Amino acid sequence: MLIEPIRNLFSRGVVVKAGVPGSIAEDVLPAELEPMAGVHPRRHLEFVAGRSLARQGLRELGVASFVLLSDSKRAPIWPAGISGSITHKPELCVVVVAPMSRARSLGIDAEPEDELKTELWKAVLDSQETAAVARLPDPGVAARIMFSAKESIYKCQYPITRQYLGFHDVHLEMDWGARRFNCLMPESVAGEVGGSMTGSWCVSAGHIVTAVEFRG
Ligand SMILES: CC(C)(COP(=O)(O)OP(=O)(O)OC[C@H]1O[C@@H](n2cnc3c(N)ncnc32)[C@H](O)[C@@H]1OP(=O)(O)O)[C@@H](O)C(=O)NCCC(=O)NCCS
Repeated sequence: MLIEPIRNLFSRGVVVKAGVPGSIAEDVLPAELEPMAGVHPRRHLEFVAGRSLARQGLRELGVASFVLLSDSKRAPIWPAGISGSITHKPELCVVVVAPMSRARSLGIDAEPEDELKTELWKAVLDSQETAAVARLPDPGVAARIMFSAKESIYKCQYPITRQYLGFHDVHLEMDWGARRFNCLMPESVAGEVGGSMTGSWCVSAGHIVTAVEFRG
């Protein structure tokens, strides 16, 4: 798999691991699997992919045998001093990890490169964002990119703020040419993550991949 475009979304020092669920060497610990008892086989497969790639990444950072559990909101509990993020879809799993001295928090999200159904736009985009995508040649895919951007923002801010944010709590300003976005954050979290967070995206292996790196 061509992982270079995804790697280029992050600065040096961030370890990026990617693969296709089902074809990644399984490396998951029994304690990690406990919450997966009885889940759909697809969820199980993708979870195992995420944990296995996370273990590869952590090993590269010199962390061996760490049990990567999740908190009550499903956020992974990374080892002290390490930030990370996981995304998995049936055909792509990506994990990023870094020492917090490089990146205080990370967010990554992958979505299939297809259109976000118009009936979902209202739930994800505000009126200004909707008007912005409607002007583009491929509005459905553009809306999907914005959906993914908000999810990667969420994953990046959550480990710092521990706050749930809905899609209408943030506002995206997109630079379509540079494939970058600026996300205006609500007051409730601005004290911790600033008034805006930035990210970027690429298209790789048939997926839109959005990335957010928060230096702190
Ligand atoms: C949490 C959420 C973003 C996950 O996205 P998704 O497309 O469903 O799934 P992905 O495969 O991309 O990501 C799943 C992984 O995200 C990670 N994750 C889940 N909750 C998380 C959280 N609160 N913080 C950080 N990471 C989280 C987990 O590692 C999870 O995988 P795992 O359960 O196997 O460990 C999504 O389910 C959600 O709740 N969205 C609503 C909030 C939101 O996006 N707001 C936008 C405005 S900020």
